[in-house]
Amino acid sequence: MKETLRTLVESFGPSGHESEIMDLIEDMIKEYVDDTYCDSIGNLIAVKKGTSGGKRIMFAAHADEIGVVVTHIDDNGFLRFASVGGLSPFTLPGNRVRFADGTIGVIGREKGDFKDITLDKLFIDIGVADKDEAAAAVQVGDFGIMHQECIDLGRRMTAKSMDDRIGCVVLIETIKKVQDTPHDLFFVFTAQEEVGIRGARTSAFAIEPDLGIAIDVTLTGDTPEAPRMEVSLGSGAAIKIKDSSLITHPKVKALMTRLAEAGDIAYQYEVLERGGTDAGAIHLSRTGVPSGTISIPCRYVHSVSEMVDKNDVQACIDLVAAICGDDLKELQ
Ligand code: CO
Ligand code: ZN
Repeated sequence: MKETLRTLVESFGPSGHESEIMDLIEDMIKEYVDDTYCDSIGNLIAVKKGTSGGKRIMFAAHADEIGVVVTHIDDNGFLRFASVGGLSPFTLPGNRVRFADGTIGVIGREKGDFKDITLDKLFIDIGVADKDEAAAAVQVGDFGIMHQECIDLGRRMTAKSMDDRIGCVVLIETIKKVQDTPHDLFFVFTAQEEVGIRGARTSAFAIEPDLGIAIDVTLTGDTPEAPRMEVSLGSGAAIKIKDSSLITHPKVKALMTRLAEAGDIAYQYEVLERGGTDAGAIHLSRTGVPSGTISIPCRYVHSVSEMVDKNDVQACIDLVAAICGDDLKELQ
């Protein structure tokens, strides 16, 4: 799991540019499923056929990550940029950006109070002397990602783009674990979640699931002076009750709770006051789909050092696998 995570978080996949990460995932899973394919928006879909008489279950973890897009190059070769997804300017100065071709830049900032920092006061310095030298490496319109190594802290791990590569790891490990299932399972590694839950919308329309489950990170309330929130690292898989995009269907909450209890899987309930996941799009597909989200508790979300607990990740894998093998009586 550790090496899978490292490979995924250190690969390149800002929203709309997910082909490298999708190829990596496809290679990891194709021998364990009946079929894999990419759709036109860039989602990777892996299908595991059920034995018979089951439901169609869609699991979604987004493979894209937040990043930057170059908007302007000045005469001295400094790059100005806009955000791709929810990038906070406070997390950026001093950090590094990597472009698709491997070019690295450092984020600097203009003078002024740190509390007044906005994205347009920041720039990327790729170590060149002027505009021509910069333009030889990077063009306006190029996408970049944050550049940071993945570290194993023992109990926990920290990396950039845990959101949502750790969700992808949960699906990959589940795919390897699930043997027989009555259900047709659709594991979707979605594109463009960070810019507005786009890939989940088109893939759910095509799949027409009976049950939709997103796997994504959520915030925690367990650091000094954190906003009040019950979720904490190490307390298990977080069964989402609500966020801005979804109210988990009561039957789906009951299903997940029963399976966690029966399987001795550590779990906690999550109420997230702001934010959403792929389930926000899935549950509104066509005439509606009973949906829920299994969240991996994560500190420092949308920074270059997001942190998760290994036991929580395992609990999420166990819970997703339990859904795959269950008779889903709540949905009958
Ligand atoms: Co995110
Ligand atoms: Zn996410």
